[in-house]
Amino acid sequence: VSPERSGAEAGLVLAFPWMADKPKSLLSRRGGDLTRYLGLGSEQGARLARGERPAAGECAGHVEDARVQIEEVERKLATGARLWQREWAVIMLRGVRRSLRPLVRDDERALELDERACALQAMLREKDREELGALQAEVEAGRYDPARLKADLAARPRFEWDAFTDRVFAFQEVPDRETMQQTDMTHYAGSGLDVIFDIAEELKPGDRFYDLGSGLGKVATLIAWLTGVECKGVEYEPAYVRAAIESARRLHVSNVVFVHGDARDADYSDGDVFYLYEPFRGAILDAVLAKLELASKVKPIRILSKGETSGTLDGVRWLERAATKTSGLALHRPVPLGR
Ligand SMILES: C[S@@+](CC[C@H](N)C(=O)[O-])C[C@H]1O[C@@H](n2cnc3c(N)ncnc32)[C@H](O)[C@@H]1O
Repeated sequence: VSPERSGAEAGLVLAFPWMADKPKSLLSRRGGDLTRYLGLGSEQGARLARGERPAAGECAGHVEDARVQIEEVERKLATGARLWQREWAVIMLRGVRRSLRPLVRDDERALELDERACALQAMLREKDREELGALQAEVEAGRYDPARLKADLAARPRFEWDAFTDRVFAFQEVPDRETMQQTDMTHYAGSGLDVIFDIAEELKPGDRFYDLGSGLGKVATLIAWLTGVECKGVEYEPAYVRAAIESARRLHVSNVVFVHGDARDADYSDGDVFYLYEPFRGAILDAVLAKLELASKVKPIRILSKGETSGTLDGVRWLERAATKTSGLALHRPVPLGR
């Protein structure tokens, strides 16, 4: 992202890479919208988390917003439904349906819009099946290998890599949570494939790799599949753990296990490389780092991280940053004794 972009524009380009070459005026307008929506979203999200229904006037506003967004999706899909356009539509419709969920029981218009969004989702799934169904069947039959994945990716633009991989390996459906997210825990977001390839390059035979806060298991399963190293995912939300176990089974990946539990309570004594993609912060991260420091006294460990977590690790006295990869993946090691 070039330095002359504002924070909002840069955020927009990071979220929607295909916008990178759009004119600055459009980026700046859409970037401003994004910042405003994020602010509104977090206010409304906090209210819903407290169990408060939106006020009557706001309900009408939500329903109207949903209508505008659904029509935007319908309009755009009428002009083209390539994978990246479908991915954009999937994200929009997921948000629309989430915002309608508290309203559909008592508001007929909300119910009708939800059904329209649901029909669009079914149409998008059908398009995915048409385009990628044969490949999914090969994956499930165990006939797809890392060399073919790399060849398939090379034939696509980079900004479609994750949408492609998430569909071929079925990581795109995020199940509803069954537990409340505690303070300092983050919500699920999957790592990008560029990061996963960088992690794979850092591993050597014999390593045991841990993904702390493993979500749907995308990283641990793909790392196990790409490298053959033993992998373990630790995840707090049971619905995600079940999805991860099911994915690994479907893909015939047997060198990965998923443990349901809190990363503060897991046993790390057999781990060599630990990955953290913004799973938690504050007191939880401190507690997990205290465990990793103990583990580092018994054998050398490496810590890989991405996002906000990497900056926090830079401030940990017993760690030093050894490298930063092109995807932004950071590699930290314990400071050698005597330094
Ligand atoms: C940002 S997601 C990362 C998912 C995965 N590591 C990836 O990179 O694709 C963070 C995950 O950490 C999980 N998490 C949060 N707090 C946790 C804890 N104390 N113990 C285990 N998992 C936790 C969340 O439920 C979420 O699935």
